[in-house]
Amino acid sequence: MSEQTLENLLKEDRTFPPPPEFAAHANGTAELYAQADADFEGCWAEQARTYVTWSKDFTQVLDWNPPFATWFADGELNACWNALDKHVEAGNGDRVAIHFIGEPEGDTKDYTYSELHDQVQRAANALSALGVGTGDTVAIYLPMIPEAVIAMLACARLGAPHSVVFGGFSSEALRTRIDDASAKVVITADGGYRRGKPSSLKPAVDAALVHGDDVTSVTNVLVVRRTGQDTAWTDGRDLWWHEALAAAEPTHEAVPVGAEHPLFILYTSGTTGKPKGILHTTGGFLTQCAYTSSVVHDVHPESDVYWCTADIGWVTGHSYIVYGPMTLGATQVIYEGTPDTPHQGRFWEIVQDYGVTILYTAPTAIRTFMKWGEEIPAKFDMSSLRLLGSVGEPINPEAWMWYRRVIGGDRCPVVDTWWQTETGAIMISPLPGVSAAVPGSAMRAIPGIVADVLDEAGDPVPDGGGGYLVITKPWPAMLRTVYGDDQRYKDTYWGRYDGVYFAGDGAKKDVDGDIWVLGRVDDVMNISGHRLSTTEIESALVSHPKVAEAAVVGAADVTTGQAVCAFVILRSEAVEEADDVGEGAELVQELRTHVAREIGPIAKPRQIMIVEELPKTRSGKIMRRLLRDVAENREVGDVTTLADSSVMDLIKAGLGGTGSS
Ligand code: WT7
Repeated sequence: MSEQTLENLLKEDRTFPPPPEFAAHANGTAELYAQADADFEGCWAEQARTYVTWSKDFTQVLDWNPPFATWFADGELNACWNALDKHVEAGNGDRVAIHFIGEPEGDTKDYTYSELHDQVQRAANALSALGVGTGDTVAIYLPMIPEAVIAMLACARLGAPHSVVFGGFSSEALRTRIDDASAKVVITADGGYRRGKPSSLKPAVDAALVHGDDVTSVTNVLVVRRTGQDTAWTDGRDLWWHEALAAAEPTHEAVPVGAEHPLFILYTSGTTGKPKGILHTTGGFLTQCAYTSSVVHDVHPESDVYWCTADIGWVTGHSYIVYGPMTLGATQVIYEGTPDTPHQGRFWEIVQDYGVTILYTAPTAIRTFMKWGEEIPAKFDMSSLRLLGSVGEPINPEAWMWYRRVIGGDRCPVVDTWWQTETGAIMISPLPGVSAAVPGSAMRAIPGIVADVLDEAGDPVPDGGGGYLVITKPWPAMLRTVYGDDQRYKDTYWGRYDGVYFAGDGAKKDVDGDIWVLGRVDDVMNISGHRLSTTEIESALVSHPKVAEAAVVGAADVTTGQAVCAFVILRSEAVEEADDVGEGAELVQELRTHVAREIGPIAKPRQIMIVEELPKTRSGKIMRRLLRDVAENREVGDVTTLADSSVMDLIKAGLGGTGSS
């Protein structure tokens, strides 16, 4: 973000206080801030008992040995019981838990809490028949269908940590994640519907499991039949989900686990090539998810229809489709497909048809809708909406205003919620019934969270200053470690400042002390709200036989926030060949496809520029800042620390409008 934009941000003087009728019924109140300030642990203990039911109450709240924390450690509970049985036992079994909307028109199905409860019990028994016990890891690789929720909850019911792998990831990525967590079973589907046609998933699982001579930890694959596509079958290993559930016992007693029992692992990109397995445990995670679903999303389970548009493969799907809203007993929409299938008004049609009251989506989606034009949402009745949320990346004030005006009819509060895979749940956000929101600002830490912006030396910056966004006290939903790598956990998150969590983001405090998150300050990119590491994509490029060296940067993109731009040095044989065939356009295509195959389509570079040199410091570090200048068509900045200052001229001259796609 340029200094110019920053200046503009800091002059933002529009504020939107909550409408009085919204404030009158809001779950999150101003007193909460005072209560949390006065008694940090007491406040969290109260949330834990308000929102979560414990089979054994806890006596201790927080044990903090930086950087390792335990929360509610001697308490026992089951996350699945809290998401299902609790509501059935309370007499709410007939409430719709999920309005499922498949991408093909007319493909819809509602699931009540009782129906989900039935399915999950059978799924838990089916998994247990395959030898999955408490502590065993299960990989889930599914489209956005109810079975994804059922599978996750069945694992939680057994105390078997799930590792959900986004369906858009490649078989390579799936394999790495299966191996790292030694998953015993994979739950997948023949395919799902995407952009109007069936798209297969099972072949990627087959490819992941047959990997040279490597032995896999996976003994069985459960396959949901979604599209009816032809599917290769490995007898003895593969089982149909519907057959396994039909054969399973109908009832299953949820297994109580300790509060610190692992609930799931979710992999996310870091600054190195190897993704990190973020480990979340049960009691604290569930507490903060349910608490924030209540005070930030203001879910009133008896009357709201909630819709979070995230995929289950990302943390937002874990926290704000499964564990938060379901612990509260909410009714929600799950939509399988893309927003433009079969038409660009699909989202708004869903809002209208289902009377959606709370919508939680990402800035990338909002900017896409802006591009499509406001006449599209205008065709639908969206008067049911009463709260809008945003997550995943900084939302620019224009997009925020558009969201509020066009989607929210100028009456719905907008909450810009900042958090991460690592934080597990929302950390910085307005409370919709309390805060006077400022377009583009995530405002302040929610009650119970203590955040700050520090300078290089570790001192808080004054209002109006910028620096590193940190969390200065432990919080219940915090990651407990990087799976299998405590050292990486310490180094990555707690290495910059002693006893303080550094999130990887830069931020500014405005003159009122409100926080503006500016984005990553490390080599992590944010493409459409999805986290990707520059190093991971560089490794993928270099694994191609024609590539000698690669540098990747995230360049500003009006729709996706950032876009992947790669600078590639070819091996000499490849250079000659490219000269023979012309400008190397085919090679660029080949490299883009290669990255998609290695990591997944989301990682495909928007642009690949073939260059002869890369800008490096004397110590050999690539100066991505300069490459970003090129990728964003800017005047190249200070080059004095380059080992060879003529490199940038060479790159610019060499590009001359060719070699990119
Ligand atoms: C990174 C975390 C949080 C769930 C989805 C992404 C960026 C997230 C915001 C926001 C500005 C945001 C940050 C963060 N981010 N929300 N409201 N404003 N930036 O989870 O993949 O773990 O990515 O997303 O850069 O560090 P994730």
